[in-house]
Amino acid sequence: MSNPPQSDTKSVTNPPVATIASLAAHVGDTVTLRGWLYNIRSSGKLLFPSFRDGTGTIQGIVPKAAVSEEVFDRVKSLTQESSVIVTGKVRADARAPSGFELDVEDLQIVHLVPTDAPYPITPKEHGTDFLMEHRHLWVRTPRQSSILRIRATIMRAAQDYFDTNGFVRTDPPILTPAACEGTSTLFELDYFGDPAFLTQSGQLYVEATALALGKVYSFGPTFRAEKSKTRRHLTEFWMIEPEVAFMDLDGDMDLAEAFLIHIVTTVLANHRADLTVIGRDIAKLEAVIAPTAPTTSTNEVVILSEANGVPGQLAGWARKNPRISPGAPSIASSAISEGAGGFSPLNKSATEPGFSPGPPARLFPRMSYDEAHQMLEAAFAAGHLEAPHIYGDDLGSPDETYISSQFDRPVMIHRYPAASKAFYMQPDPLDPTKALCVDVLAPEGYGEIIGGSQRVDSYDLLRARILEHNLPLEAFQWYLDLRRYGSVPHSGFGMGIERAVAWICGLDHVRETIPFARTLNRIYP
Ligand code: 4AD
Ligand code: MG
Repeated sequence: MSNPPQSDTKSVTNPPVATIASLAAHVGDTVTLRGWLYNIRSSGKLLFPSFRDGTGTIQGIVPKAAVSEEVFDRVKSLTQESSVIVTGKVRADARAPSGFELDVEDLQIVHLVPTDAPYPITPKEHGTDFLMEHRHLWVRTPRQSSILRIRATIMRAAQDYFDTNGFVRTDPPILTPAACEGTSTLFELDYFGDPAFLTQSGQLYVEATALALGKVYSFGPTFRAEKSKTRRHLTEFWMIEPEVAFMDLDGDMDLAEAFLIHIVTTVLANHRADLTVIGRDIAKLEAVIAPTAPTTSTNEVVILSEANGVPGQLAGWARKNPRISPGAPSIASSAISEGAGGFSPLNKSATEPGFSPGPPARLFPRMSYDEAHQMLEAAFAAGHLEAPHIYGDDLGSPDETYISSQFDRPVMIHRYPAASKAFYMQPDPLDPTKALCVDVLAPEGYGEIIGGSQRVDSYDLLRARILEHNLPLEAFQWYLDLRRYGSVPHSGFGMGIERAVAWICGLDHVRETIPFARTLNRIYP
């Protein structure tokens, strides 16, 4: 008998308790599984119960002749989601979705779901409202379980990236005295008679810890009272936010790229089976981390072919705009780096102990807001967008969807008009109407997954910005202190975990990316 892998639970029972995910190590053995009946089919004297145990799903086979009448009748009586302890012999079967089948020998019922009050989610189709109302049960469906497993890996990979690259985790408070991302999406609460707010972002606090520790990050829940129903917005979501002292916008973009490549690489290395359950096109994720652009001679971005539904003229458009290239930083950003003394600690501190990402490959296309605007104008003229993009406005959802669908890697859009962005963003010295900021748009139309910027480092400018934005100066005195005492250029970004999960899993709505979604009209279960 082969040794059970470590993930198996040692049990007083004999044969050993195994998990469905570990069955490859048990082929030919008799094992015990503990789980639930997912579904059952019968065909005369044959029963086909399928079981799930949290690690996977396996089909069992129960021929009437192979088991006692008692066991056969017990299996036959099983109702959906009844809990069971089942013993059987593991058989490899290439046709089975999991690769294995179980020849059932014995089965104990732990809890039988009564037939007069059956499990509400049947294998037939249900509407999303119904499923969200039963989210506490919906999470048992294999597809939902796969999504949650991938979410957990994305969160772990995100933390690992920073933990192994010299960042210190410093978690900010959730109860805060002031707004970070605009006053229109604040959840206000009564803090012993004073107003307080649920945090919209830990950024202001990691700016403080970055000036203490150099490279830091925070990771926790954040809240936005989003009054819109979109497929990208939750009212409670998880954000991971690095912040680095002496890093400029170029360094920020390099960091975001290396970080995303690490996450996608980790998911591909660990979750091919889950991605298949979800129905994800894995080749699309592989393209994101491919070491070189799969184009030939030029340095231009990878434009999806016409066969993929993208008009050929955009490829021509990109050729005329060589700055939109995976290899070269934009002209403006290299000028800034040189002008500001070239803060790019990602490259500089590569020699530090414990800091190993190496020079980033710069595989992700980078384009300025102005270039994005030109792309949208061309797309509107060609009839690919319903509404024109108004110069100066932030990019709308259809604009983001359009731009991101033009690339097979995440695309970084930098230097938006300062007026459409947050108060803390450093103006571009080459054009102060622009902010030194970046939004990373995921490919395939998933839109913004990361928002980041270089922060205002001048006391006077920051104070003026706080006043211009009608924010209470009082509540920001501590934040202004960071510019009073040893101010330095510094940058960071925030990635919403749910947006990243939606993209990596290929889901059309963020509500399936978190165990219990909170949206404009849902706070149950
Ligand atoms: O672009 P945002 O608003 O940036 C910030 O909060 C900065 N303070 C971050 C920083 O620089 N440290 O939000 C960052 C990311 C977005 O790109 C998106 O992925 C996610 O947070 N996000 C949301 N995700 C789900 N639902 C919402 N309502 C979200 N709002 C933002
Ligand atoms: Mg943003």
